[in-house]
Amino acid sequence: MRRIIMAALAAVSLGGMAHADTIKVGVIGPFSGPFALQGKNFKAGIDAYMAMHGDTVGDDKVEIIYRDVPAPDPAQSKALAQELIIKEGVQYLTGFYFTPDAMAVTPLLTQGNVPMVIMNAATSAIVTKSPFVVRTSFTLWQTSTPIAQVARDKGVDKVMSVVSDYGPGVDAENAFKAAFTAAGGTVVEAIRMPLSTNDFSPIMQRIRDSGAQAVFAFLPSGPTTLGFVKAYNQNGLKEAGIQFFAPGDLTQESDLPALGDTALGILTTFHYSVAHDSPENKAFVEAASRAIGNPAELSFPAVGAFDGMHVIYKMIEATDGEQDAQKAVDAVKGLAWESPRGPVEIDPESRHITENIYLREVAKSDDGTYYNKEIQTFEKQGDPGLAAAN
Ligand code: PHB
Repeated sequence: MRRIIMAALAAVSLGGMAHADTIKVGVIGPFSGPFALQGKNFKAGIDAYMAMHGDTVGDDKVEIIYRDVPAPDPAQSKALAQELIIKEGVQYLTGFYFTPDAMAVTPLLTQGNVPMVIMNAATSAIVTKSPFVVRTSFTLWQTSTPIAQVARDKGVDKVMSVVSDYGPGVDAENAFKAAFTAAGGTVVEAIRMPLSTNDFSPIMQRIRDSGAQAVFAFLPSGPTTLGFVKAYNQNGLKEAGIQFFAPGDLTQESDLPALGDTALGILTTFHYSVAHDSPENKAFVEAASRAIGNPAELSFPAVGAFDGMHVIYKMIEATDGEQDAQKAVDAVKGLAWESPRGPVEIDPESRHITENIYLREVAKSDDGTYYNKEIQTFEKQGDPGLAAAN
């Protein structure tokens, strides 16, 4: 008996015997508090991917471990990432809704030998903070550059820019201004609001007083964006003919029922609409709807999560379950696939996702549901933010 056990151990150590491991994946995101619906979308995307592709890669079983950071909190995010790496032994870190939470974790990756797959956080610079960061969401530079051209095409000369005062807001402001100015327009005033702002009436008054024909806005999707678009309507800006241009964070699908008819016609640019017309998206929406329970709650973090899992599965496959962050990241450089959002590719240089950006209009279907109707495609957009930073 003893001899048999010794032989078995020898076979394992020589790699002569297939052995199954559990690969732990740590997910950090907002799973409680005001942004809980965004975290719920991470989980829906992850569950949808695993329902469609199974919970094993080769011989290895994939186990997901969730950690809750309800609001942007870099210290809490870093502490939880440390706990996941050291105590839980996770081989991958993923999720990350807010930029500060992702930024705080990048210094841990090299020593931990752990790749980070960002499912949302959208400030351009995050990917430059560690060679082990890969991102499957979007950047504000990617989404806010095309909307500037759209505004110019609509004959708008003067815009007031209003953003949340942190990484993605600053990126949105800079991206919009660069493209709008290059196209001959003027940003008459640029306001950066504290992230905690929830009374937008004074800002709406400033927009009215500024003489701008339109407002460009970015806030992180959640109660913040819903409140901002409501304030735009309630303070009479729409009636006054002041147009509204924004990246799609401002019209996420889960906010549309609460905005109602007042949101109809708002133009946004974004990488994903739940209404995207493709077989891949149909299959995704079915699986993600089943996972989330209420299909009206589906929103863009679900597709970032679904594609993030695709990247992690490819990494596990390429490393045969071994913990080798460099090999895992190298394996997905240049990886291309058909996402529910359209064709995508991980740029081998930046490790950020190249994707189509769509111009969409908030519309109402025959059955009374609101959706983001895609009306124009800007194909294969990389991240202009990284070029701008160099
Ligand atoms: C971010 O913090 O990077 C972030 C959060 C929500 C968004 C976009 C960007 O809608």
